[in-house]
Amino acid sequence: MTRDAWEIQEIELGGGVVLRPLAPDDAEALADAYVRNRDHLRPWEPRRAPEFFTATGQVARVSDTLKSRDERRTFPWVFADGPLIVGILNLNDIVLGPFRNAHLGYWIDAGYTGRGLVSGAVRAVCSVAAESLGLHRVQAATILDNEPSQRVLRSCGFQEIGVARAYLHIDGEWRDHLLWEKILHDGPPR
Ligand SMILES: CC(C)(COP(=O)(O)OP(=O)(O)OC[C@H]1O[C@@H](n2cnc3c(N)ncnc32)[C@H](O)[C@@H]1OP(=O)(O)O)[C@@H](O)C(=O)NCCC(=O)NCCS
Repeated sequence: MTRDAWEIQEIELGGGVVLRPLAPDDAEALADAYVRNRDHLRPWEPRRAPEFFTATGQVARVSDTLKSRDERRTFPWVFADGPLIVGILNLNDIVLGPFRNAHLGYWIDAGYTGRGLVSGAVRAVCSVAAESLGLHRVQAATILDNEPSQRVLRSCGFQEIGVARAYLHIDGEWRDHLLWEKILHDGPPR
């Protein structure tokens, strides 16, 4: 183990954007980000209740997520440009033991796409997962026609597992998803 991942302050991604761990006072900036990106995210996300787009709704969510982080079950990051939150990236469902797996999820603000930010962040987080979290593999799932997300994963060394039918309830329907995996190392559990 080279460094304690849970203590990382931030990772520079270029252009003034950093990836940093979610913080307790991020709720208001997150609500603003979800309001700004409501149309951008709609096709790729579950349907959201109205309070999701409010600071109050995000306070509850951030609190739940940080509790899960304290229990080492999730590693939540945000993309930040100064005071603005411009995206999120999460390692969810972290399991150790012989599985040593996490599920990866992410989105970036509509005004920040196409700059390599998510690809850079996924590469950095996979290194952290391998070197510091003791994980062996990371999984992801994309809707079949989400080409930008599939390009991110392919360029970061993920491989297709196959199609899972009616896998997640997204934008009002159960959607088939392409499942992806990245094997981080072939060594013994560490
Ligand atoms: C998918 C998403 C995360 C990609 O983030 P990004 O920071 O723009 O990705 P990058 O700039 O790192 O680009 C990665 C690749 O996608 C390509 N790409 C980016 N936007 C694209 C677009 N609109 N159409 C086609 N390809 C696109 C890039 O050219 C690059 O390809 P390359 O590596 O072959 O050159 C972003 O578009 C997004 O947040 N979309 C909405 C939410 C979402 O889909 N989340 C993922 C759910 S699985």
